[in-house]
Amino acid sequence: MNNYRPTPEDKFTFGLWTVGWQGVDVFGGAIRPPMDPAYAVGKLAELGAYGVTFHDNDVFGFDASDADRDKAIASFRDAVESTGLKVPMVTTNLFSHPIFKDGGFTSNDRRVRRFALAKVARNIDLAAELGASTYVMWGGREGAESAFAKDIRTALDRYREGVNVLCEYVKERGYDMRFALEPKPNEPRGDILLPTVGHAIAFIDSLDNPDMVGLNPEVGHEEMAGLNFAAGIAQALWHGKLFHIDLNGQHGPRFDQDLRFGAGNLRGAFALVDLLETSGYDGPRHFDFKPPRTEDEEGVWASAAAGIKNYLVLKERSKAFRADPEVRAAMQRSGLDELAQPTLAEGETLATVREEVFPIEDMAAHGFAFEQLDQLAMDHLLGLR
Ligand code: GCO
Ligand code: MN
Ligand code: MN
Repeated sequence: MNNYRPTPEDKFTFGLWTVGWQGVDVFGGAIRPPMDPAYAVGKLAELGAYGVTFHDNDVFGFDASDADRDKAIASFRDAVESTGLKVPMVTTNLFSHPIFKDGGFTSNDRRVRRFALAKVARNIDLAAELGASTYVMWGGREGAESAFAKDIRTALDRYREGVNVLCEYVKERGYDMRFALEPKPNEPRGDILLPTVGHAIAFIDSLDNPDMVGLNPEVGHEEMAGLNFAAGIAQALWHGKLFHIDLNGQHGPRFDQDLRFGAGNLRGAFALVDLLETSGYDGPRHFDFKPPRTEDEEGVWASAAAGIKNYLVLKERSKAFRADPEVRAAMQRSGLDELAQPTLAEGETLATVREEVFPIEDMAAHGFAFEQLDQLAMDHLLGLR
């Protein structure tokens, strides 16, 4: 019997800001004490995590002196080295300090944009030192509350300028690092730039170094917009743009819930794990959740462990689903193999199909048996098969 114990090959990683979240929200202050990053690293290692990720200011304060910054980094680095945890991804806090109230790369205040670039560059150096190969850009404050506050096209010019400058920097320094943009439709801004996977993919195409930039999609963010996350991830994979992923849970379009992975839309989570595990995606499975404010520290670790367990259970269910002969037959009947055939055969042209005589009545009467296939998936998810 599987005990759902993770291995390093599972590549489960956690943001320091997830288990370290003190529960400050718009209606109330901290309900948990601060968590020392080195302590969090030790606990994550005990859970079987492969790695840990952070924003610059999860490790040292915005106002930290150079000496305090060095001390904080040294303590974090010691913890990482002694536990053997990796730091595959690093990111920047461009949202907490009051100067970022109108964004970082796209603030209407040019001084803020310049400061933001410098802040990111400094943290990229640290990320490279710690061996990170992915640098996430979540532009939570890049946006507006009202239509006339921000010229979206001009703001996108500035966003592109920022990403272009930082790509050049990484190239110049010779770092083995790629950027991953994290879309989100709203919160904290009323409307955020690059709101969905689709918007971000189109934006990347307009960059000077599109190959260096991909995505870090988050389950809850697409679902907040009413979108199907697994379908969006499939398209990101199709474009070669799934550089990283944020796993969590969400109950449909509402505020960003950041529930533990598997909570919220469980069927969506099953489809996602099945996709990731069959697609050849070999990046981190990164948990970006917030243990609810109702929880004490024990609840924090319980929710972190549950995310891992839920992923491993769904992975096991996906394997059983794929190996089930009845499922294979159902897929055949539903025409999945047929979809894999090009619509025109070799040598055929549009003229061929224009002359073809089609059995319209048969085609109209043909059922796809998707319901039988979907119920087989459900039976596997529910552990009935
Ligand atoms: C959110 C976001 C953030 C980002 C993180 C990385 O909950 O809206 O997911 O948690 O992922 O800040 O920059
Ligand atoms: Mn996230
Ligand atoms: Mn989120």
